[in-house]
Amino acid sequence: MKNYSGKRVLVTGGAGFLGSHLCERLLTEKHEVLCVDNFYTGRRTNIAHLLNIPLFEIMRHDITFPLYAEVDEIYNLACPASPIHYQFDPVQTTKTSVHGAINMLGLAKRVKAKILQASTSEIYGDPVVHPQPETYWGNVNPVGLRSCYDEGKRCAETLFFDYLRQHNLRIKVARIFNTYGPRMHPNDGRVVSNFIMQALRADDITVYGDGSQTRSFCYVDDLVDGLIRLMDSPDDFTGPVNLGNPVEFSILELAEKVINIIGSKSKIIFKPLPSDDPKQRQPEISLAQKFLKWEPRIPIDEGLKKTIVYFESLQ
Ligand SMILES: NC(=O)c1ccc[n+]([C@@H]2O[C@H](COP(=O)([O-])OP(=O)(O)OC[C@H]3O[C@@H](n4cnc5c(N)ncnc54)[C@H](O)[C@@H]3O)[C@@H](O)[C@H]2O)c1
Repeated sequence: MKNYSGKRVLVTGGAGFLGSHLCERLLTEKHEVLCVDNFYTGRRTNIAHLLNIPLFEIMRHDITFPLYAEVDEIYNLACPASPIHYQFDPVQTTKTSVHGAINMLGLAKRVKAKILQASTSEIYGDPVVHPQPETYWGNVNPVGLRSCYDEGKRCAETLFFDYLRQHNLRIKVARIFNTYGPRMHPNDGRVVSNFIMQALRADDITVYGDGSQTRSFCYVDDLVDGLIRLMDSPDDFTGPVNLGNPVEFSILELAEKVINIIGSKSKIIFKPLPSDDPKQRQPEISLAQKFLKWEPRIPIDEGLKKTIVYFESLQ
């Protein structure tokens, strides 16, 4: 029986980078949090500090299998997010996005929960529209190395909207752009973690291509704030809504910032671009600004410093 004022919230992928911060934030708001994770890329250390909080519960479970739990809200974050992890077992990646979405939507339908999908800017593929508004349908290669992730996430979005149309489910879809912060996997091959680890070790910093390709980087606390605002928004606001930081940097600028903050002796070296690597990626966030009153607040230098402190603690 429920004996507190908070909501019962299920977070799939709760032991991952974003999920662990989301669990933490929901607990500070006094909600009951059920973290479901198969620990594929998630780590126990990400949630170790939450384990003795009575409102927190962890369940080892793979969301490609059905789950029953009495909850009020579901944040569906389970899915490896970095190319080296999602390309390691691409069939499982698609299954996690597609079967996982079906299972979580089925659960939401059964217990009448509100459900939020962690979608991605990758659904825009290699965009020919810049920056990308939610109305842009994307330019995605269906048969490339990234397709298991991109197309899996696109299909999950389709399923969310079909559950809305067919079953009148309360759905929310967030298209998350590059997010960084403490508890990112140090060896996940993502650009921020790569650069910081290389700079801390004074290794060469690897820039793919000429470094002119741009990315926008959102600090994790800002992103979590956006997810919670989206979940709390009126039922008729479903998204998809872009959540990310529109401030754009070239990859080369990012490398230089990391070197300067750390005071590293690293040199920048250049390697060929991997296939399907998007040249530009920038969120258009006017929808989130208007309907969620949300925009990122933490500047890149401040976020990088906090992230660097975390990576230093791992050394
Ligand atoms: N971090 C970003 O920049 C970013 C950008 C866009 C979208 N996203 C999305 O946000 C979500 C979280 O990303 P993240 O950066 O925290 O990644 P992450 O890899 O740190 O977290 C994903 C979590 O899901 C778990 N997981 C994977 N497959 C599962 C399965 N079948 N069953 C149960 N758990 C499973 C992993 O163990 C891990 O804890 C993902 O859905 C990702 O696609 C993240």
